[in-house]
Amino acid sequence: MQKVAVITGASAGLGAEFARQLQGLGYALLVVARREERLAAIEGERWVADLSIEAEVERLALHLESRGDVMMLINNAGFGTQGYLAEAAIAGQMAMHRLHVLATVRLTRAVLPQMIERKAGTIVNVSSVAGFARSANNVSYCATKAWTNAFSEGLWLELQGTGVTVQALCPGFTYTEFHDVMGSDRAKHPKWMWLNAGFVVEESLANLGKLYVVPGWKYKVFLALWTKLPAWLRLRVEARR
Ligand SMILES: NC(=O)c1ccc[n+]([C@@H]2O[C@H](COP(=O)([O-])OP(=O)(O)OC[C@H]3O[C@@H](n4cnc5c(N)ncnc54)[C@H](OP(=O)(O)O)[C@@H]3O)[C@@H](O)[C@H]2O)c1
Repeated sequence: MQKVAVITGASAGLGAEFARQLQGLGYALLVVARREERLAAIEGERWVADLSIEAEVERLALHLESRGDVMMLINNAGFGTQGYLAEAAIAGQMAMHRLHVLATVRLTRAVLPQMIERKAGTIVNVSSVAGFARSANNVSYCATKAWTNAFSEGLWLELQGTGVTVQALCPGFTYTEFHDVMGSDRAKHPKWMWLNAGFVVEESLANLGKLYVVPGWKYKVFLALWTKLPAWLRLRVEARR
């Protein structure tokens, strides 16, 4: 029987790259996103859904529960916004929390029992270096990615000895459509800070079984130092950015 991987946000960027690389590894794919025409380019089962809408998440979750053959779930769909919370369009902020947090909980809960029963399976939660940061202008994004890290850590504890693994993938700036969707100019950040989507996904898949995966030595060094700082000092530094 072919191993099945479910990838949310597979119509672009990291999700599309996960689809490409997992297909190369022999996985059968179930790919999810809103843009059907983009999913059409991927071989496999295509599931069109807006995962910021509870009923659409529930429909997918029930499908995953009933098929019972999911070996890998990549909770990847996501987006960023710009602007202070007091001024940001509330719909986008609420959608971000529903997509990054609630959809991740529901879909993970849908596949965990079958993985535990099979004593095999992998959950990859696509987080971000931003999960370790706090940023004016980006409050919800950093908060939801910090949640993703905490959620992954808790699951890691619960999954000890089950044969099921969880990974929090924490990339830094990566060339995808993310910054176009957010309306952010890539040139604001120096070229050396940018990663390629292919490399990020390779790092993730080469390190399944490891809780935190931070692609690229520059980000590894940065986080090793940054996470040692006391909160008051981190916030002082963030306040000056
Ligand atoms: N690029 C970076 O610099 C970077 C850095 C760190 C972490 N990340 C994280 O990486 C993940 C993937 O982002 P990316 O960089 O690959 O961005 P991307 O190229 O913009 O792709 C985002 C994907 O998420 C899907 N998506 C967005 N909203 C959705 C919704 N409501 N329902 C279903 N699917 C939805 C999009 O598909 P549709 O529009 O077709 O629905 C698309 O497939 C995100 O969680 C992001 O936070 C990105």
